[in-house]
Amino acid sequence: MSTTSQFTERDVSEFFDRTTQTYLSFWDSEGVLHTGYFADEADTDYPAAADRTSDILAADAGIDATSRVLDVGCGCGNFLLRLAERTGCRGEGLDLSIERIRFAESRRAERAPTADITFRHGSATALPYADGSFSHVVSQDALFLVPEKPRSHAEMFRVLAPGGVLTISDFLQPRAEIGAAARRHVYDRVRWNGGYSLDGYADALTAAGFVDVDARSLDAHIRQTYRVLGHTARERAAGTADEAARTWILGFADSCDEIQAAIDRGEFGWGMVIARKPA
Ligand SMILES: C[S@@+](CC[C@H](N)C(=O)[O-])C[C@H]1O[C@@H](n2cnc3c(N)ncnc32)[C@H](O)[C@@H]1O
Repeated sequence: MSTTSQFTERDVSEFFDRTTQTYLSFWDSEGVLHTGYFADEADTDYPAAADRTSDILAADAGIDATSRVLDVGCGCGNFLLRLAERTGCRGEGLDLSIERIRFAESRRAERAPTADITFRHGSATALPYADGSFSHVVSQDALFLVPEKPRSHAEMFRVLAPGGVLTISDFLQPRAEIGAAARRHVYDRVRWNGGYSLDGYADALTAAGFVDVDARSLDAHIRQTYRVLGHTARERAAGTADEAARTWILGFADSCDEIQAAIDRGEFGWGMVIARKPA
């Protein structure tokens, strides 16, 4: 079994800055870069599944026109823009990657110029907002990357108003021991040191002060996400003229096979968690 790596926030931001355009070129040009919620194994419609994930999180959170929402690790901004379009909520999106924030801001200007939505560069471990600023904090597939997770939990707790709701989807490390293949293709590939099991996640949020913590495992959906993405990546690589980009995309497609194997071995998981700050 291989040892745990030690990536810093700088390692994470450099990776996401460097790869943003490549991800957009083969995954989703609108910047929807998170796990899909699929109907079953025959369902290969990634965009619909990805939107479904967003809609489930929004419904779990109870976001409506009166909500003020913070999306932590908002990436290219799609979740917050979708929320604003569908509910009329106000909100802020924050991400460690300046490249992704630039993309999010350009999409906001085009898609929702009048929406009360702002995108900012920053870290989950030092949120640039006053205490109690938000009715909801949401996050999709981002908090796993934070090296100092208790700090990000404390920050999300701080910026939520009393009674506010935290709703997240996130990657899980279901067991402590991780083999070399999973370490390489799942963890080191995206500069992830490792994280919580589902129970560990609930315990960590409870320790941060959250109540009514409800965590559910959804491994089948992440497996289907990487099955569909691996297929798409191989198709897109065939039509990519730039050799360096083609090599990177093909490497990603190979990792998709290894990622599915890691899920089957219980070395990688995905779940949704909802919790509340006491009123
Ligand atoms: C897998 S992407 C998901 C992006 C987005 N939530 C989506 O649904 O498309 C992970 C994102 O988390 C961001 N991230 C990683 N560490 C972070 C941190 N400490 N604070 C804020 N964002 C972070 C990365 O820059 C990246 O955009």
